[in-house]
Amino acid sequence: MQSIIVETAQKKYPITIKRGLIEDIGQNLKKIYKNKKIAIITDSNVDSLHGKKIEESLEDEDYIIRKIIIEPGEKSKSFDTLQIIYEELLDFNITRGDLIITFGGGVVGDLGGFAAATLLRGIPFVQIPTSLLAQIDSSVGGKVAVNLPRGKNLIGSFYQPEAVFIDPELLRTLEERYFYDGMAEVIKYSLIRDKELFKKLLEYRAYEELFQNIEEIIYRCCQIKKEVVEKDEMDTGERMILNYGHTIGHAIERYFKYEKYTHGEAVAMGMYNITKKSEELGITGQGTTDMIKDILIKYKLPYAMPPMDMQEVIKIIGSDKKNIGCNISIILLKNIGNGFIKKIDSNSVEKYIA
Ligand SMILES: NC(=O)c1ccc[n+]([C@@H]2O[C@H](COP(=O)([O-])OP(=O)(O)OC[C@H]3O[C@@H](n4cnc5c(N)ncnc54)[C@H](O)[C@@H]3O)[C@@H](O)[C@H]2O)c1
Ligand SMILES: [Zn+2]
Repeated sequence: MQSIIVETAQKKYPITIKRGLIEDIGQNLKKIYKNKKIAIITDSNVDSLHGKKIEESLEDEDYIIRKIIIEPGEKSKSFDTLQIIYEELLDFNITRGDLIITFGGGVVGDLGGFAAATLLRGIPFVQIPTSLLAQIDSSVGGKVAVNLPRGKNLIGSFYQPEAVFIDPELLRTLEERYFYDGMAEVIKYSLIRDKELFKKLLEYRAYEELFQNIEEIIYRCCQIKKEVVEKDEMDTGERMILNYGHTIGHAIERYFKYEKYTHGEAVAMGMYNITKKSEELGITGQGTTDMIKDILIKYKLPYAMPPMDMQEVIKIIGSDKKNIGCNISIILLKNIGNGFIKKIDSNSVEKYIA
């Protein structure tokens, strides 16, 4: 078992990482939650695979449960689904003294977390992430959101959970494409902050060996995210380091209308390409780009930029919501394990994009 305490201005809360943790989640919750009612927000995939385990454990502790099951997938991160969730929570007569659990991937965490943040001006919630991306990224740090038809995560808030419970065993049922999608963010953490992790990721010979070490990998990623979030809870400075590969990655996702590439695949291409450019400019150590290429190939992720109209891509980058005024913060590597933030004028974006 590994545990981490996240300490933000809003809240101090534990992240617990343990194989099989879901089997006695009820006992774990008893330590932090004394009332009776719990609403579980989940999606139908996660519910059919793992819903019973969580329900049985909560019932053993005499909790009164209401399950709210949404359709899987990004399109559920919408106002329409949000409204259904609000109504179901109100039908359950939920109060600010009760608890919401988000049990699923990043979609369930972001959407359920946003519902928790806003209904009755805030109901306590616990994150139980079930995808690799959610276990190492979206469940930690308090960002919750829904999408608008014109863009992702445009409505959101910073709302920290009471606790995060991570059971790596749940990942066994994750589809391969989603597993490697999450690996792109694991690789990102290693590139910006953890050379040792990078070396280990390169050494694992097969999926099974990686999985034997998954608890430790998740721990390292959550630790890095915690350190960054604690310094910059509201994402105005240091937290932008987590955006490595994302400036180009987001542009690729948007260019292909979120249909062709997963988020992780787009970030993988973003990491490789911005580093290729910065290596050419002499900012990044020689040979770094080749090592990134090796690791991306190993984890079944793309690296070469797809054919795109670059003027259009640059326009998309200019309209990213992370830009402040006419400055863009891009993230570059000095070498493996050492990322840094560079503020550039929006007119010089082209210099950093292949
Ligand atoms: N809040 C943040 O800081 C933050 C950070 C990164 C990403 N995000 C958000 O996260 C979302 C993406 O998250 P995601 O990749 O987890 O997507 P997701 O929630 O759609 O999950 C991916 C798929 O895996 C399935 N799944 C989840 N757990 C499973 C399991 N254990 N076994 C089998 N199937 C399982 C889901 O049903 C879904 O079909 C995006 O909306 C993104 O904006 C948020
Ligand atoms: Zn990301």
